[in-house]
Amino acid sequence: MQHLTHICHYQLCSYEELTEQDRNLVDIAKSATRQSYAPYSRFHVGAAALLDDGTVVVGTNQENAAYPSGMCAERIALFHANSCYPRQTVISLAIAAYHDGKFTSNPISPCGACRQVMLETEQRYGMPIRVLLFGVSGTYIIEGGAHELLPLTFDASSLGK
Ligand code: THU
Repeated sequence: MQHLTHICHYQLCSYEELTEQDRNLVDIAKSATRQSYAPYSRFHVGAAALLDDGTVVVGTNQENAAYPSGMCAERIALFHANSCYPRQTVISLAIAAYHDGKFTSNPISPCGACRQVMLETEQRYGMPIRVLLFGVSGTYIIEGGAHELLPLTFDASSLGK
């Protein structure tokens, strides 16, 4: 029997340590939380995707009385980007969440379904998405993208494609 280990490489940066470009993207994700529609959870998530040509596309979580019909901010941002700018590579994705009158102290972590969509997006464009997970206590930067966040992935190769 072999014991195998998956290692996730990520950095923890204070807000001041972020580059200007990263801070700008994080600020856009933070502002986007105000556009979230989350009357049920009151957990307002904003995501901002930076594309190759400098375009920034935002997404916010959109809830529904039929709960599973809602959608996370990350997937809305990525699907929006891929729908409107299908030829632009997604370079970075910043995520922030506002709850109980403040931004979360810990960095917000994307759900499994969003990681799966992030993975497909980075494989589609052949480039890892730099993921910036904002929290008041610090921002995680995952340079290696969704692949770092999702070990043993199910992807096109699993389908023999
Ligand atoms: N949510 C997101 O939009 N992104 C995440 O990364 C985690 C969760 C949303 C889904 C739901 O509207 C609310 O946050 C509470 O789960």
